[in-house]
Amino acid sequence: MSRPLRIALTKGRLEKDTLGLLESLGYDCSIVRNKGRRLILPIPNGNMEVVLAKANDVITYVEHGVCDLGVVGKDTIMEMQGKFYELLDLGFGRCKFALAVKKGTDFYSGFSVKTIATKYPNVSRSFFEAKGMDVDIVKIEGSVELAPLLELSDGIVDIVETGTTLKENGLEVYEDVAPISARLIANTVSMKLRQKEIEALTDQIEGYFAENKE
Ligand code: PRP
Repeated sequence: MSRPLRIALTKGRLEKDTLGLLESLGYDCSIVRNKGRRLILPIPNGNMEVVLAKANDVITYVEHGVCDLGVVGKDTIMEMQGKFYELLDLGFGRCKFALAVKKGTDFYSGFSVKTIATKYPNVSRSFFEAKGMDVDIVKIEGSVELAPLLELSDGIVDIVETGTTLKENGLEVYEDVAPISARLIANTVSMKLRQKEIEALTDQIEGYFAENKE
């Protein structure tokens, strides 16, 4: 038998949601759930194994073909791009990219070039390029909400889930940029060499979604 189908999961919430989905399909994820500090874990009844990684690394491992499949947020896919197939929208991990500003600010008023702080420079650049708008982009590593409060930027492009972080810091969504959810991605070569196994899994997932429509 060939090596197990290897699926990289983004550690944290997407990992938990993916395990929930795999369990609903009948896969035994008990070893993954009791992983301790292990990072590669078998699914004993599925000829599959799970690799736990950070979001950007999920894409790197799938692109390089050391993992056949990956579960990663559309946010990371949009920012990193890369060469892989996006097979399915898994429906969980829903949030959005949004342009946010200090409450009451009219972002588009005036003629000065605006400054945008973000952890997602590529997403921000494409968003403003599509509008034909020239902006200065400043890359920030975390808590981007600080930038407009400290007057470093006119706005931020960031992930908004509940909106609480914006609200508690006197900011508001000015415009939605793009919806986000978890996606199943596949290595391009694995899609040829292990097509049957991958399609069997995607068919199972789609069947489950069809049966459990809200
Ligand atoms: C994200 C995002 C916002 C927050 C939005 O950060 O950058 O700060 O979540 O969520 P909310 O709308 O529900 O308040 P995250 O918590 O992922 O931490 P990070 O700054 O390390 O990315």
